[in-house]
Formats: sequence, structure tokens, C-alpha cells
Amino acid sequence: MAISSTITVDLGARSYPIVIGSGLLGDFDLANYFNGPDCLVVSNETVGPLYLKAAQKMLPPDSVVVSLPDGEEHKTLETVARVLDELVASHANRDATVVALGGGVVGDIAGFAAACYMRGVAFIQVPTTLLAQVDSSVGGKTGVNHEQGKNLIGAFHQPRLVLIDTDTLSTLPDRELKAGLAEVIKYGAITDLEFFGWLEANMGELLRKNPDALAYAIQRSCELKAEVVAEDEREAGRRAILNFGHTFGHAIENSLGYGEWLHGEAVAAGMLMAAELSNIGEGDLKRLQNLVEAAGLPACPPAIGAQKMLAAMVMDKKVQAKQLRFVLLRSLGDAHLTSDYDASLLDRVLAKSNS
Ligand SMILES: NC(=O)c1ccc[n+]([C@@H]2O[C@H](COP(=O)([O-])OP(=O)(O)OC[C@H]3O[C@@H](n4cnc5c(N)ncnc54)[C@H](O)[C@@H]3O)[C@@H](O)[C@H]2O)c1
Ligand SMILES: [Zn+2]
Repeated sequence: MAISSTITVDLGARSYPIVIGSGLLGDFDLANYFNGPDCLVVSNETVGPLYLKAAQKMLPPDSVVVSLPDGEEHKTLETVARVLDELVASHANRDATVVALGGGVVGDIAGFAAACYMRGVAFIQVPTTLLAQVDSSVGGKTGVNHEQGKNLIGAFHQPRLVLIDTDTLSTLPDRELKAGLAEVIKYGAITDLEFFGWLEANMGELLRKNPDALAYAIQRSCELKAEVVAEDEREAGRRAILNFGHTFGHAIENSLGYGEWLHGEAVAAGMLMAAELSNIGEGDLKRLQNLVEAAGLPACPPAIGAQKMLAAMVMDKKVQAKQLRFVLLRSLGDAHLTSDYDASLLDRVLAKSNS
């Protein structure tokens, strides 16, 4: 076991560590993070066979395992009910701990079940996709989709610990790795121009799964997310910048139907639409486009049609008083949430989805 870094998410009494390293699964000592012996591990039919056995070495011997079907289409209230049923059936008490072993879908479902059961039990994230390691496992947002929109039902419930074993990325399909890189690029674009430059220089190594490059990208992404979350845990303001590219991205995901484009792919095209709406200079726009393309991600939206995109965006949670709001860039590395945008430019940006 080799820990490469530990980052603290600073939230007063709810603070917790993000531990990043290699060989952690199975060897890391979880004892301090449990209140009692009751433990429910939530995984899925893909990740379970790969990593459950190793994970169980660090869990109480009679932990209950729930294996979910794989896929975003299962991120529903019905699946949460299944997890809750297992907690009830195993007579888990208030001291129980829910452990999520998997990608963002498993983490969001397990976290929401942990938030609901007895009004909240302890929760540990063991993310196994790059996207989950750099984004969804950190910050306490949990929840599921509704037919009418993504992540419409949810709760804030911070984990006790985020345990990131970078070795798990060895089995991650390339397409999923690239989707995770979209969120990594996002952090550079919204808050850290230096990191953006590092990504430009190291994208090839990341795609080759160079362990040191991946560990650094995960660490820096988690540091940046932890900073923003510590400032604004419940998204009253600044945390919204983490949604850069997501208003367009969610509209792409919703319009195509879940599973057609991966979340990260939709966010990649969405970031370029948001950057264009930001009216940053041609040079910065081109840099973002080049980096997105270097990561093997789409820089243009699919042919959904401007009308349909707009309708999907109006459903987005950032719509306040029927006014669309966007996370826009003042320049690369500097984002803010605003309802002050150029409406005719929005029409032109949306028109990109016409063909
Ligand atoms: N809570 C948040 O703050 C937050 C932030 C961003 C995204 N999300 C959510 O996260 C979800 C996307 O997460 P994701 O991209 O991790 O998708 P995912 O959980 O569907 O995982 C992608 C695929 O990879 C498989 N997989 C996972 N780990 C693997 C491994 N190590 N080896 C091989 N296969 C593996 C999964 O079974 C799945 O088939 C979306 O639902 C999104 O809304 C939540
Ligand atoms: Zn995202």
C-alpha cells in the first residue's frame, strides 16, 4: 500500500479526508471510520466481480453486499428502495455504515440511501472510475434521476472518507477514462490556469494511464473541488462554477436519452458551448477545444436541434425565476455564475446542435 496524498475537505464537524494512493483497496485500515459493526456495501455487477473481494478484506466480516445492475438508467428511486430494503432486512441500526464501491452511479445511489436511512448513517466512498475519483465522490451531493430530469431527487450527505485506489483505473474502459478527463479539464478551465497548462503538457501520459500522471491529476482535481466545496457546501453561490458546461451537457444527455453519450462526453461538448457563450478570446477558446480533442472527447454537440436543447435547458436546476443562468468564463481559469449573457450569441451556440 502506498498513499500518495491525503486531502482534507474542510467542513467543520463534517470534515473528511480524501486518501489517494496505490494498493489501498483491502489494505487501508477503515476501523476509525465505522461507528459500529453493521456495514452494507453497494456495488454493481461489473465492479463487484473485479474489486469486491479485495474491498471485503478491510470490511467487517458479516458485511451485507448489494449488487446493483449496471447503468445510469438504474439511477432511480426504485434502486434506492432496493438498497433501503436491504438495510431494513439486515436490521442495520443507526451506527451502520454504507460503503459505495463503484463509479458515480453507485456512489450517488448508495449515498442517497445512506442519507435517507434513519435520517442519515455513515457513508464511505470507494470510487472506481476516474469521474467518480475526481468529482462525484467528493462534496456530498447524492441522488437519483427522475424521468423529467437528471439528479432531480437528492440530498447533501457528506462521506466520512473518500478512498481512492488509483490501481482500479487499470480495468476502466478507455471511453470511461476519457469521460472522467472532461471533469479534470473542467477544473483547470474554471479555477486553475496552471493546472490547465499541465494538462496540455500531460494529456498523452494520462491517456496512457501513466500512474504518476493520473495520481497527480486526481490529487489536483480533488484539491480544487475540496476548496470550492469548503467555501460553499450547499451551492448558495460559488460551488455552482463546478457546473461549467453542465447546463448544455445535461441538455445533451436528457435529449439523447441516458447512456447514448456519457456524462463526461456531454460535459466536454457543453464546456465548449459555454466557453463560446462566454465570449473569451479566440486563443483561449482554441486552447480549450484542442485539449478536449486531445482527450478524445467531442468538441461539438450531437444533432439534437436548438429548440430541443433549449427546452431541456429550461428544466435545468439552475433556472431561477424562469431566467437561464450559465457558468461562464471571464478567461480560462476564471469562472462565475451569471444570468448576464448575450441572447443572440446563445442562439448561435445552440444552432451548433442543428446539424
Ligand atoms: N454527486 C456528484 O457530485 C456527481 C458529480 C458528477 C457526476 N455525478 C454522477 O456520476 C454518474 C457518472 O459516473 P461514472 O462516470 O463513474 O459512471 P458509472 O458509475 O456508470 O461508471 C461507468 C462504467 O464503468 C464501470 N466501472 C466502474 N469502475 C470500473 C472499473 N474500475 N473497471 C471497469 N469498469 C468500471 C461501471 O460499472 C459503468 O459501467 C452520473 O450519474 C452523474 O450524474 C455525480
Ligand atoms: Zn459532471
